[in-house]
Amino acid sequence: MNKDIDSLVLICNNLHKSYISASTKLPILCGINLEVASGETISIVGSSGSGKSTLLHILAGLDNATSGSIIIDGHVLNGLKDNQVCNIRNQKLGFIYQFHHLLPEFTAYENVLMPILIHGNVNADNKEFAMHLLNRLGLDKRFSHYPSQLSGGERQRVAIARAVINNPKLVFADEPTGNLDNHTGSQVLEIFFSLQKELKTSLIIVTHDPAIAALTKSSYRLKDGLLNLY
Ligand SMILES: Nc1ncnc2c1ncn2[C@@H]1O[C@H](COP(=O)(O)OP(=O)(O)OP(=O)(O)O)[C@@H](O)[C@H]1O
Ligand SMILES: [Mg+2]
Repeated sequence: MNKDIDSLVLICNNLHKSYISASTKLPILCGINLEVASGETISIVGSSGSGKSTLLHILAGLDNATSGSIIIDGHVLNGLKDNQVCNIRNQKLGFIYQFHHLLPEFTAYENVLMPILIHGNVNADNKEFAMHLLNRLGLDKRFSHYPSQLSGGERQRVAIARAVINNPKLVFADEPTGNLDNHTGSQVLEIFFSLQKELKTSLIIVTHDPAIAALTKSSYRLKDGLLNLY
């Protein structure tokens, strides 16, 4: 890997993760190295149970590795307190889950603003950006709908808007359209990739679909705990 170190939004070195189950050690990640440059798109494929979600959660600071180091936009995550990791996550990262994880008691608009509400006050710029994102994602008539009043594709689009409301350096997407039919999934992805280009956000997307992997600059396969170019 010969990327300019200053342009890297993520550096992950020799990451290991094991689970202990019934006093047996279960190795999942066995020495992952990855670098992601500013604006770069990367896809990760791998069979069910290979550790894709585990890897994404660790890289995004949502779970801890057994060993190894992670640097996000120059910040070394190792050794930081939970609230410090949380702040970096909130300022630099966005996460889109396979299932939208929207809060049912809040509207689409409120859900998009939630990452900002959690950490402080929402200002006029934030509100304008939330409206811009919802418009951009074709949800201009859905601002005040609750998640239960939205279709699956609409919920995922709200989740995409929520993931980028803080102008993150890097967005993680864990099979963001795996729960949608092919047609809806393609539409959501098309709009997501064009938004990603507009915002110049880096992206790591986990997918089962080779057609989606082909949309990213580099594609990796996770197998036997290791990540290799695909
Ligand atoms: N908390 C846990 N305790 C023990 N084992 C776990 C835990 N979480 C995950 N695992 C195991 O780690 C392995 C990897 O899980 P992970 O969810 O990362 O797979 P995945 O590649 O995302 O699969 P899928 O494509 O089905 O989403 C699985 O075999 C799972 O059983
Ligand atoms: Mg998974």
